[in-house]
Amino acid sequence: MLRTTVMATSIFLASLTSNIALADDALRAQANAFFKPIPATMPGSENDTPERILLGEKLYFETALSINGTQSCNSCHQVDGNRARKNLVGCVR
Ligand code: HEC
Repeated sequence: MLRTTVMATSIFLASLTSNIALADDALRAQANAFFKPIPATMPGSENDTPERILLGEKLYFETALSINGTQSCNSCHQVDGNRARKNLVGCVR
């Protein structure tokens, strides 16, 4: 009786493990259909010039673009690393 129970449990666990592996594979395939690896370089960056890069940097840090003239992209997406990510949402000072 004990031997039968142990065998049945082993078979059940083995099938469970293989079902989980199949589910992982299916989920991975589904995710791969939606998401692709981030390209190594920004598409279109081959057309970058020093002037364009400088303009982008100026716009990124420009507070005059916000409705009240106080916030730039960097207010929330700090590229200089001075703000913790937890403060991203809403970016209230
Ligand atoms: C008031 C705060 C705030 C400002 C200012 C701001 N953003 Fe955002 N931005 C956010 C938040 C919050 C998200 C959503 C982040 C998330 O969901 O993880 C976001 C998301 C983004 C994303 C999408 C990121 C992703 O993972 O898909 C981009 C790109 C982006 N912002 C660019 C900019 C640019 C460019 C500017 C300036 C023109 C700017 N943001 C200004 C708060 C801001």
